[in-house]
Amino acid sequence: MNSPQGSMRENGSWTPASWRLREAQQQPCYDDRAQLENVARRIGKLPPLVTSGEIQELKRALADAQEGRRFLLHGGDCAESFGDCDADTIVNRLKVLFQMSLILGHGLKQPVIRVGRFAGQYAKPRSSDRETVGGETLPSFRGDIVNAAAFDAAARRPDPERMFQAYAFSALTLNFTRALFEGGFGDLRHPEYWQLDWIDQSPRAIEYRREVEEIANSWRFLHTLGGQVGTERVSAGFYTSHEALLLPFEEAVTRRVPHRRGWFNLSTHLPWIGMRTSDIDGAHIEYFRGLQNPVAMKVGPSTRPADLLRLIEVLNPHEEPGRMTLITRMGCKHIAEALPPLLAAVRRAGRHVLWVVDPMHGNTETTPTGIKTRHFDNIRSELEAAFQIHGAEGTRLGGVHLEMTGEDVTECLGGARSLQEQDLSRAYKTTVDPRLNYEQAMELAMLITKVARAAPKVTGRAAAGPRPVAVI
Ligand code: PEP
Ligand code: CO
Repeated sequence: MNSPQGSMRENGSWTPASWRLREAQQQPCYDDRAQLENVARRIGKLPPLVTSGEIQELKRALADAQEGRRFLLHGGDCAESFGDCDADTIVNRLKVLFQMSLILGHGLKQPVIRVGRFAGQYAKPRSSDRETVGGETLPSFRGDIVNAAAFDAAARRPDPERMFQAYAFSALTLNFTRALFEGGFGDLRHPEYWQLDWIDQSPRAIEYRREVEEIANSWRFLHTLGGQVGTERVSAGFYTSHEALLLPFEEAVTRRVPHRRGWFNLSTHLPWIGMRTSDIDGAHIEYFRGLQNPVAMKVGPSTRPADLLRLIEVLNPHEEPGRMTLITRMGCKHIAEALPPLLAAVRRAGRHVLWVVDPMHGNTETTPTGIKTRHFDNIRSELEAAFQIHGAEGTRLGGVHLEMTGEDVTECLGGARSLQEQDLSRAYKTTVDPRLNYEQAMELAMLITKVARAAPKVTGRAAAGPRPVAVI
């Protein structure tokens, strides 16, 4: 198959298409390859969604986080859907991310890097290629970029045209997000812009309001004193991220830019490698190794220390600061035995990475009635354990990766309102994994500041102040 970006070379050197020589996991089976190539060519001609300058800026911010000077908040939907590309959903997502970042920044006394799992989070890995319901077997739903969730043969047929739509919906989402920022949405002096309507119904409403108001007051005060707070702009930065799973799409959005070396995935700032596609000999690792973007990779309980070190060597051979983020998702039952050997191996090898905890994906369970959920207590317990283990190993936990939404859904159990199994059906909307609702997300943000402050302190190697982060 010929690449829209140039021909493959057999000599082992990298191109945006060299992944095609490797085995690619989790790819749909398209029945019209010519149509697939045609769509990829059309996408390849469209303007990019993000710039290489923004990507480099995020890499510098992540390098700061690696050194203990920033904290990463990486969160959003498990899967975005085309149907949810509307103003309210986008605004609510940003609101919850911003409120959490305000609480984290204030509690941790550090600038927070905000990275949304959105404007492109449309492809999903699945445990099985096919799904059987009532005797009928169809291809699994692999995210809106591939097929539709409805259980009928036409909806489940992988359709290449959806890649084009995904690119367009990502552009719409990002366009509105950028317009909101231009209009002052990210202004830290006005967190009331970020208030969600249903906060009043929360049992913790007073606590949230008081905390946000206090923080806003101190920002206003500092602003009147100095105009700007430290070197951080008053308007807060924001970046996008998605799992770069569907390789024909990712190849089509991988470009060169004038005046900069190398290749950039210009559909997102921070692409990540999912747990099911991190085989060192596989197509995804081949694709990612050649990118200039910062790269994140999920790490699960079965990852062996030696394999992790090999992956780091392939993905970041020159130890570039900010290049490598490792997102651990062990599950609260496995973290105590699975995480320490990995931290020790990376530390002993002298490798510099940004460690982030995803307390969601190792804690997914199915209720007796067949609903996929996660218990808030298990999420909390993995989070607390992660801070403690890093403290004990002398490594720094520099961020969190969460699935959450600004909507008032009932998908995860527990939390301040103590959601029970019978509550799940009330507002269960996710097409893939259960997300924290607004209230649970805010509760977790407060918890993170508490456990991070209580965890043993790791002294960073450098103590310089933060670099500025621009608005996208
Ligand atoms: C995800 O982040 O939605 C996901 C599928 O995660 P993981 O690769 O860790 O299972
Ligand atoms: Co998920």
